[in-house]
Amino acid sequence: MAAKQPKVSIIGAGNVGHSAAQWIVSHRLADVVLVDVIEGMPQGKALDLSQAGPIEGYDLAITGTNNYDDTAGSDVLVIVAGVARKPGMSREDLLNTNAGIVASVTKEATRRSPHACVIVVTNPLDVMVYLAYKASGFPPERVMGLSGALDSTRFRTFISREVGVSVEDVSAQVIGAHSDTHMVPLAGSVSVGGIPLRLLLTPERIAAVVERTRRGGAEIVSLLKTGSAFFAPGAAITTMVEAILFDRKRLIPLSAYLTGQYGVRDLYVGVPALLGRNGVERIYEIPLDASDRAAFEAAVQNIRENLALVHKASA
Ligand SMILES: NC(=O)c1ccc[n+]([C@@H]2O[C@H](COP(=O)([O-])OP(=O)(O)OC[C@H]3O[C@@H](n4cnc5c(N)ncnc54)[C@H](O)[C@@H]3O)[C@@H](O)[C@H]2O)c1
Repeated sequence: MAAKQPKVSIIGAGNVGHSAAQWIVSHRLADVVLVDVIEGMPQGKALDLSQAGPIEGYDLAITGTNNYDDTAGSDVLVIVAGVARKPGMSREDLLNTNAGIVASVTKEATRRSPHACVIVVTNPLDVMVYLAYKASGFPPERVMGLSGALDSTRFRTFISREVGVSVEDVSAQVIGAHSDTHMVPLAGSVSVGGIPLRLLLTPERIAAVVERTRRGGAEIVSLLKTGSAFFAPGAAITTMVEAILFDRKRLIPLSAYLTGQYGVRDLYVGVPALLGRNGVERIYEIPLDASDRAAFEAAVQNIRENLALVHKASA
C-alpha cells in the first residue's frame, strides 16, 4: 500500500479537468478526485486513468464521483466546472450561468476542505475567481485564478519558435485580464537566455507574437470547432498545483486579489505572484511602461464592469 499522498480535487471533469488530472498523476504529485454533475462520467474517466498506472508507474488513488464528501480533506481544489457559450446565449447569460455554478460548487468543496488552496479556472476567469473567493470565505491568498500561467506558456512557445531557441530559454510574463482583448503580454521584459527580445526580433515580429498570444485561446477554438483548449490549460494548472503542494515558491503570473497594488483594491487581476504552500505569498509590483500601464488599466475596468453585471443580475 502506498504512503499517504497529497490530495487534489478537481470540480468539473470535462476536458480541462481530465487533462489536469492526467498531468498531475503522470508527474506523481497527488491523489486525484474528479467531480462532475454528470453521472458515471467522472467515474469512467478516473477508472480509465487508473488503468494507465501500471504503464506510467504511478500508484496514486484516482477517484471519480458525483459526491462532494469524497473531496474532504483536499490540499488543493481546482474549480473548472461550467458551461461553454451556446448559440443564442449572450455574454451576460454565460456570465450569470457560470457565476451560479462556480459559487455553488465552491461552497460545497471548500466546506469539506477548509485548509485547501483554491485554483479557479472557469471563465470569465477574473470574475469567477472573485465570486469563488466570496463563496469560500477563505483568506484571499488561498484563492487564485489560472490566467498568466497559461497565457505566458503560450507567449513563450510563440517566442521560442520565432527566435529559433528552446522554450526552456524563454522567460516571459502575461498579466492583466484573462481575455483576448484585455490580457497584457509584457514584451518589454521578455528574456531569451538573458538577452532582451528587442535585440532578437524586429518590433513588427514582436507585435505579431504579442497578437498571436492574445488570440491564443481563440485560435484553438477556431481550429477545434467544438470546445476549447485543454492540454496547455491542464499543464498550467499542474504547475500551480505543484508549486503549492511542494512549496516551490514559484514566480507565476496569476489572478490574485489586490489590496492596493497597482492602485487596485478589492478585485482579482492577473499579476506576477509568488506561489507556495500558503497560496499567493507575495504579489510583485513591477514598473509598467505607458502602453502596458494603459492596457492593464483597461483590463481592470473590464473586470469591474463584468463583475457589476453579475452583481446586477443577483440583486
Ligand atoms: N482560465 C483558463 O486559463 C481556462 C483555460 C481553459 C478553459 N477554461 C474554462 O474552463 C471551463 C471548463 O472548460 P472545459 O473545456 O473543461 O469544458 P467542458 O465542458 O469540457 O467541462 C466542464 C464540465 O463542468 C461540468 N459541470 C457543469 N456544471 C457543473 C456543476 N454544477 N457541478 C459540477 N460539474 C459541473 C460539466 O458537466 C462538464 O463536464 C470553461 O469555463 C472554460 O472557458 C479556462
